[in-house]
Amino acid sequence: MLAIIGGTGVYDPSMLSDIKDIDVRTVYGDVEVKVGKFKDKEVVFMNRHGKGHSIPPHLVNYRANIAGLKKLGVKNILATAAVGSLNPNMKPGEFVLVDQFLDFTKNRKHTFFEGGKNGVVHVDVTEPYCKRLRSVIAKCANEMNLPIHEGGVYVTTEGPRYETPAEIRMFRQLGGDLVGMTGVPEVVLAREAGMCYASICMVTNQAAGISPTPLTHQEVLDVMAQNSKKMRELLMKVIESLSFDEDCGCRNAIDVPMDKLIEG
Ligand code: HPA
Repeated sequence: MLAIIGGTGVYDPSMLSDIKDIDVRTVYGDVEVKVGKFKDKEVVFMNRHGKGHSIPPHLVNYRANIAGLKKLGVKNILATAAVGSLNPNMKPGEFVLVDQFLDFTKNRKHTFFEGGKNGVVHVDVTEPYCKRLRSVIAKCANEMNLPIHEGGVYVTTEGPRYETPAEIRMFRQLGGDLVGMTGVPEVVLAREAGMCYASICMVTNQAAGISPTPLTHQEVLDVMAQNSKKMRELLMKVIESLSFDEDCGCRNAIDVPMDKLIEG
């Protein structure tokens, strides 16, 4: 099975048919998702920020979200993210398939493994975003003539405030290309859970201090809305093209069976 984690501006599951609302219970909390069909393939749709964008990035229950998808049998996750750009070559309205991250979050639960009965696990994130998913997404975007950058470094900030220009200059010096508030720990938890995960980022603005105007959430929503049709079409083509059950190294990142850890 495949799941879409819809970020800011991606709230509409209407590409799916036979949609059912499902509540999933996990030890980390309960999550609400929609499950439907796209051309006979079963697809889960999850709103990262909850109903009506009601959960800010630093309070998203990332562990419950990923555990809930795992419990449903999801093996592939296509996440979407609105991002600011630090890189002059990555412009508003363009897609970026990030391949690395820098983590500047502060107060989040980053792992399913906190000792005790779950044990201690140090997961490898040399290649944090699934290469197989990324290559299918890039191929689909190229066939559709969508502007897409294959590779980029995603800087995750704690939020919910935007950054200072000084922070943006620092992130740029450290090698960052994009900045957002949700990429970590979502990608890491997906890897711990043995799921393939890729993030389709949409540049919505130039980052603070590069943009000539102060940043607003409305600006981010407006650019997402202008590009939502492209995002939806790309997601549909990827779902159609992807083999959901193809074996992949992401699935064996750790050798601890997750099932008992997530039952609610
Ligand atoms: N900073 C952080 N998160 C964001 C931005 C930004 O400039 N744009 C969209 N999400």
